Amino acid sequence: MDKIRIIGGNPLSGTIRISGAKNAMLPLMAASLLSDKTLILKNAPLLDDVMQMGSLLEQLGVSLTVDASGATRAVHLKAEKITTTTASYDIVRKMRASILVLGPLVARCGYAKVSLPGGCAIGVRPVDLHVKGLMAMGTEIELEDGYINARAPSGLKGADYTFPLVSVTGTENLLMAACLAKGTTILRNVAREPEITDLAHCLNSMGARISGIETDTLVIEGVTLLHEATYTVLPDRIETGTYAIAAAITGGEIQLIDTDFDLLPGFTSALELIGVKLARIANGILVTAPAGRPQATDIITAPFPGFATDLQAQIMALLTIAKGQSCITETIWENRFMHVPELMRMNADIQVEGSRALVTGVKSLKGAQVMATDLRASVSLVLAGLAAKGETVISRVYHLDRGYENLEAKLSACGAQIERVKVDEAA
Ligand code: EPZ
Repeated sequence: MDKIRIIGGNPLSGTIRISGAKNAMLPLMAASLLSDKTLILKNAPLLDDVMQMGSLLEQLGVSLTVDASGATRAVHLKAEKITTTTASYDIVRKMRASILVLGPLVARCGYAKVSLPGGCAIGVRPVDLHVKGLMAMGTEIELEDGYINARAPSGLKGADYTFPLVSVTGTENLLMAACLAKGTTILRNVAREPEITDLAHCLNSMGARISGIETDTLVIEGVTLLHEATYTVLPDRIETGTYAIAAAITGGEIQLIDTDFDLLPGFTSALELIGVKLARIANGILVTAPAGRPQATDIITAPFPGFATDLQAQIMALLTIAKGQSCITETIWENRFMHVPELMRMNADIQVEGSRALVTGVKSLKGAQVMATDLRASVSLVLAGLAAKGETVISRVYHLDRGYENLEAKLSACGAQIERVKVDEAA
């Protein structure tokens, strides 16, 4: 298993190109199941999670090719014939986003058998809302031997469904399913994350009839068929935020290109309170660290347009060296502070009380051996390592490959001393 070794302390400076968004790419790939025609996804991030979704779709009968001839890669997906409607535990347990095939399979085939994903490092992560929404659209569902058995042999019916709480993949699953339902579906209290907007635009370019995009109520008039489309995946806002913090935490200045300032409203306002300067530039954002230490601030994670939970671990790394005390409240996931003990090994001063973490800023972090526990926790340790004095060695870095394309190359190009080493070489 690889490790990452970082010698911290270099202010980063340079340009980083932001990749396509992982959390947009995964539902967009699942959307290919809705049609027998080709869906081409441009600006595709080639990440482990994307490969994993690709393997699942191939098992279901989708043909998939990667075209690397353009400036960015394109993934071509064609679900001409769905050969099985079963998504097995073996594949779903490795990636929870596999649940995204449930809605499209039932909508197109009238049947689906999808393993329940089970819990994961950041929380219990139930999928009851996906199930209840599909039931409202006329699907019979039985939970049996760890599987969701969904049947709608005469097709889905339009429904009026209100999410009792905001769910990103829940919204995506029902949105995809509703495209092929008979009649009109109204989905209320939906998530408004930019990845959902991206999915809705892509579905409309395939011939779906979705309105209310970007609001909390989506109205979908069902159609009988969707057709071919070519769609460009939006920039990864979480990768954007992560590299913005890399500039801020090292006292540097980085241009983030092929990304969009407006994807991160809750995050950018928090960075400005911390003293980080953000400027719009052509095709991106210029991020400049505060002149002295960052200022402490309070953070509360929330659905879009609030502060994204997927940037909570990274902002915590920055606040460990801020002047003063910050309070970070995690409202989305019940167990998303696993980076705290690892950051404390690096001299951070953090106290966790339930869903709140009190971060008392220290003058500097110190390099240490630490262990990654999930994707965003891992990258927060990379950020801390970039700022820390001395050497940081992070183990279990396979989590990073699920969500960050060419992380070491992107950071090295800005002056970071970071390398990936084999376990025996790092010992
Ligand atoms: C998506 O997960 C993202 N994953 C997550 O990104 C992200 O952390 C999360 O949204 C919140 O923004 C993808 O887009 C692939 P939810 P999702 O359903 O859809 C509860 C990353 O690091 N809930 O919005 O699974 C749930 O337990 C990741 O890239 C139910 O109770 O999240 C949670 O407390 C990890 N029942 C809250 O809702 C349900 O049926 C929000 O979860 C569904 C969710």
